[in-house]
Amino acid sequence: MSNDTLERVRVFAPATVGNVGPGYDVLGLAIDGVGDIVHAHRIDEPGAARLLRIEGADMQPADDNTAVVGARGALALCKADFGVELVLEKGLPIGSGLGSSGASAAAAAMAVNLLAGSPLPPDAFVGVCAEAERVASGAPHADNVAPALLGGVVLLTPHGRPIRIHSELELGVALVTPAQRVETRYARETIPASIPLVEAISNNAMLATLVYALATNNAELLRGTITDRIAEPRRAPLIKGFAEAKQAALDAGALGASISGSGPTIFALCNDVAKADAVQKAMSEALHEINIAHVHRASPVAKRGAHAIDDDGKPLHQPEASA
Ligand code: HSE
Repeated sequence: MSNDTLERVRVFAPATVGNVGPGYDVLGLAIDGVGDIVHAHRIDEPGAARLLRIEGADMQPADDNTAVVGARGALALCKADFGVELVLEKGLPIGSGLGSSGASAAAAAMAVNLLAGSPLPPDAFVGVCAEAERVASGAPHADNVAPALLGGVVLLTPHGRPIRIHSELELGVALVTPAQRVETRYARETIPASIPLVEAISNNAMLATLVYALATNNAELLRGTITDRIAEPRRAPLIKGFAEAKQAALDAGALGASISGSGPTIFALCNDVAKADAVQKAMSEALHEINIAHVHRASPVAKRGAHAIDDDGKPLHQPEASA
C-alpha cells in the first residue's frame, strides 16, 4: 500500500429536489448547505460493505440501507481490493422528499471512489446509486442520486446518463417540510402505469421548456414551467397544506412551486436566494395560519455534488464545479 493511500474518508452529499415539477424521474437539482455525511474506512475484506452506526436518525444499520448498497456497487465498479466500514450521519430526515436515501447512497459511493484513489468520475456511480434507490423504494430512479453526485441541475437521458445543465441563472430554492413522513414506495403507487395523453403532452412541453430556459439563462421563460400534471395532482392530497403553501409561493413571486420528489417537502424555484428567502417565509406563514407544523429554509442550488470534507465539514481537495 503506498503512503498516499487513504485509509479513511468523510464525504458529504447534498439534499436534492427530485422531479423539479414536470420531470418525473428524469430531472433533479441539488440543494446547498444540507445533506448526509458518510464516514468510511478500509477493511481487508474485498467487496464487503458494513454499516456500523447511524447517527442523527432513529434507524438501525441494515444491509439494505442505501449507503451499503451504494458502497457495494461502487466497490465492484472500482474493482477495489478492499472493503469498507461505514458510519452514516443523517442530516436529512427520512421520508421528507429531500432525497435522503439518495444522499446516503451518493456519499457512500463517492467515499469508496476516494478510498480507491478516484479511478472513476462521479457520473459513473449514478447506476449503482439508482440501484440503491430501487432497494429502498422499489423503483430504480436516479433524479435524486444524479444531482447528489454531480451537483447543479441534472437531466437523465433515456439510458440513464446524467447531463448536468449548465446555466448562468443563480436560482434560489424555497423549501417547506410539513411534519409528516411520506414513503416514496407508497407515493409511487399513487401514479398509475399508464396516464392520459393530455397529461403526457403537458409535462413534455413543460419539461422541454424548463430545460431550454435553464440552458439559455431565461428566467422569465422558466416561469410557469414547474407545472406537473402527472405526479402532483395524485400526491398533493397526501401532503398537509400543499395547496396553501404552493399558492403562497406563487403569490410571493416564485417562478413555480411543486412537490419535492415524493414529498412532503414543497419547493419553490425563485430568481435568486433573496427571493427564495421571502418566498419560504410566505409559505411558512401560510402553513402557520392553518396550524401545520413544519420546517423551512431557502438555499441556492448546490454547485458541488458529493465531496470529501474535513473534520470541520469544510470541502477537501476537489475544486468546485462551474455552474
Ligand atoms: N422521482 C422520484 C419520485 C423521486 O417522484 O418518486 C423520489 O424522491
